[in-house]
Parts: sequence; C-alpha cells; structure tokens
Amino acid sequence: MIIRILGSAAGGGFPQWNCGCSNCRSVREGLGKATPRTQESVCLSADDGNWFLINASPDVRSQIESFDRLHPSKPRHSPIQAIFLTNGDLDHCLGLLSLRENQPIVVYATEPVRRGFTEGNVLYRTLQRFPGQITWRTLKLGEEETVLRADGTPSALTVKAVAVPGKLPVHLEDLTTINEEVNVGLRFREPTNGRMLAYLSTVGRITPAVHDALEGADCVLFDGTFWSSSELSAHGFLGKSAEELAHWPVGGQGGSLSALSNVRASRKVFIHINNTNPILREDSPERTIVEAAGWEVAFDGMEIRL
Ligand code: MLT
Ligand code: MN
Ligand code: ZN
Repeated sequence: MIIRILGSAAGGGFPQWNCGCSNCRSVREGLGKATPRTQESVCLSADDGNWFLINASPDVRSQIESFDRLHPSKPRHSPIQAIFLTNGDLDHCLGLLSLRENQPIVVYATEPVRRGFTEGNVLYRTLQRFPGQITWRTLKLGEEETVLRADGTPSALTVKAVAVPGKLPVHLEDLTTINEEVNVGLRFREPTNGRMLAYLSTVGRITPAVHDALEGADCVLFDGTFWSSSELSAHGFLGKSAEELAHWPVGGQGGSLSALSNVRASRKVFIHINNTNPILREDSPERTIVEAAGWEVAFDGMEIRL
C-alpha cells in the first residue's frame, strides 16, 4: 500500500489567511523551522495505478497537481477511483465542488455525511450536470467491504468505517442532530499482504472504540489538530477548548500521545495539524516530545509504503 499525504494541515491551512500567530508569521516570512501545509487530504493505492482519495479539501486542485500519479493519462481521465469522506466538515468536502469539470466522480460517505452535503445545497447542482456525474456509495459502520473502483470492479483494498467521537459540521449545527455516523475513522486493508492503515483525523475523545479502531494497524494517521486544550482560547482566537471542537489534544496529561502509548503501529503520524500547534515548528520542545514518543508529524508530500 502506498500512502501519500497531499495535505497535512487542519481547516484554514498553514499559514491561514487571517492568522498572524507566531507560527503563521514565521512560516510566511520564511523564518524558523516550519513548512507551509495545505488542508488535510491523503491518497492511497495498493497497485500504484488505481488511487483513492481520503477527503476532498478546498486545496484539492493544487494537491492533485502536486502528485504526478494523480494526473490524467488521456485527454479526459483521472486515476482517482473514488473519494472517501470522514465527516462533513468543509475542509473535507468543499473540494468536491472543485471537481466539477464533466468528470464522473464516486464518493464514499455515511448517509448523514451525504445528506449534510447534498440537501438544501444549491451549489451541489454543479455535480449533477449529467446523469451519473456523481455516484454515492454508502459507508456502513463496522462492515469491512471491498473498495470498488469507479467502474464498480473490485480494487485490491478493503475498507471498514468505524464510529469515532466527533461533532456536526459547523454549518449544520442547530439544523440537524448528531449521531454516531457523522464522524468516522477508516481502516483500509490490503488482503493480499494484510497491511493496514487506520485513518482517524478527527477524534473528539479517546474511547475504547478509538483503541479498537487502531488495533492491528501498520500505520496510524491520527488527529494532531491541537497540542493543548486551551490553544485557541489562550490566543484569544476562539472561546472553545480543543475538546469542544472535537479534537482531543496531543500533549499534556491524558493527551493522545500518552493515551495512545500502547499503539504498536510501525508508523504513527499526526495529521490535520492546526496552524497554532507548536509541533509544526521542527525545533520546538513539543516536537521533540512527539518524536521521542515514536510519532511523526505529517507534511505535504510525505509518502508511506506499507
Ligand atoms: C474542524 O476540524 O473542527 C473543522 O474543520 C472546523 C471547521 O469546519 O471550521
Ligand atoms: Mn477540520
Ligand atoms: Zn496561525
């Protein structure tokens, strides 16, 4: 399995357009040890030919251009067989609207995530310009299924969606009710060699279900949004804790770094990193703590082979 990180930042990217925090300023000015990052998206393939996207970020166009394996091989073509959505947040879905150039696309999502994107959304009509422009395939919790290519034939991967504590997308708050299908982790497996990726980029709490979702994975890509609970409120950016935003902090007592110390995966990588997070700075004490615990910090262009 080849896993390529197309975008490693949380919503807003790094630097974020309206942010002048010390991280964003230093990366903008080329000072300090940190590199710019686009918004979270990953692609994977078992055969280096058929590629699957996890999340369609607002940066999807430049992300596809950034990786030659995703380029068309004919005048109208895409090696992207399907797109998986882990929740309905705009940083995961908005890119779908950018993929509107008369190319059929296939999207795997749970029912609430599909409805949240399609219902009452006049912009969605741009993906319905011809019959079959968009095909939705329903992710059912807890069922391992063969991932299908765009033409409906089996790929060399299976997927299992698992419920992970999360929250509603901001634009659906007060419009709909939360249930366990609004935020999922994805376990991708290659049956021929047993290799497995566990992908959990939004984790609101570390529960037994989260531990189960990571069990047996060779590679874990995990929510690295915030280092501390008060990261946004301490800066005066937002009066909400990391936990209230459904992103369990990495650092501190009970943070994911200590709560997941039993994870045995050979690659353990934090992704969806907010621009305020000190682990973005390669020379920060927090980065040293993460790396000493055997974890890595995802960057755009990172490639993992299992
Ligand atoms: C999140 O990760 O919590 C969301 O991307 C926030 C948002 O949509 O603004
Ligand atoms: Mn996000
Ligand atoms: Zn910032």
